[in-house]
Amino acid sequence: MINPAHKKHAPATARNQAPILDVLKECLPDHGTILEIASGTGQHAPYFIAQLPGHYWQPSDPDKDNRNSISAWWWEKQFKNILPPLNISTDDDPWSVESQDLPLAITAIVCINMVHISPWTSTIGLFKGAARILPPKGILYLYGPYKIDGVHTAPSNELFDISLRDRNPEWGIRDLTEVQKLARDHGFSCVKTVDMPANNLSVIFKKD
Ligand SMILES: C[S@@+](CC[C@H](N)C(=O)[O-])C[C@H]1O[C@@H](n2cnc3c(N)ncnc32)[C@H](O)[C@@H]1O
Repeated sequence: MINPAHKKHAPATARNQAPILDVLKECLPDHGTILEIASGTGQHAPYFIAQLPGHYWQPSDPDKDNRNSISAWWWEKQFKNILPPLNISTDDDPWSVESQDLPLAITAIVCINMVHISPWTSTIGLFKGAARILPPKGILYLYGPYKIDGVHTAPSNELFDISLRDRNPEWGIRDLTEVQKLARDHGFSCVKTVDMPANNLSVIFKKD
């Protein structure tokens, strides 16, 4: 049962959606289902899909309250090309989407602000799942803060990293080189990084 009152708002999500959409328009395949991992509030889905014709958007999150919020955001515009949210944790194997009948095959996976707010094993699970699901040339899009060669790109990111590790010692801002190595180990090449507002990066991987 969808309850519009379950809608959650994340100010940072509203702030980053326009610059992220600009990059997605450049890097996503022309058509297909886009699987969103860690959709959170779900407010990105209607914003993005309104400007990505030819695509379906499959949101997901392991948290039930977040899935309720994703449905509540869907309710407002009721876009037919946003699919009901799935319960997916990247720690799962397989992911629930692998047994779903989708209107179009998945050609891209989008994961915004999860890699630093989850244990490293969840990022490993992300690449493992992406390797299983994406076709050759499929796109894996990551967004968030990263260290470059072991160094934070801004003092604010260093403070954020400390606060993340205080909340959970397994969380923290990852080094881009380590993520790129993990990607190579799973058959992905990093095709582009884009500097984003507030010291974040878009990191775009393509399956070999
Ligand atoms: C900071 S929020 C980002 C949400 C959304 N992408 C955004 O930008 O607003 C982090 C999200 O990651 C999800 N998450 C944490 N660990 C996860 C995992 N292993 N697999 C999938 N999602 C996970 C949480 O439930 C939460 O919704």
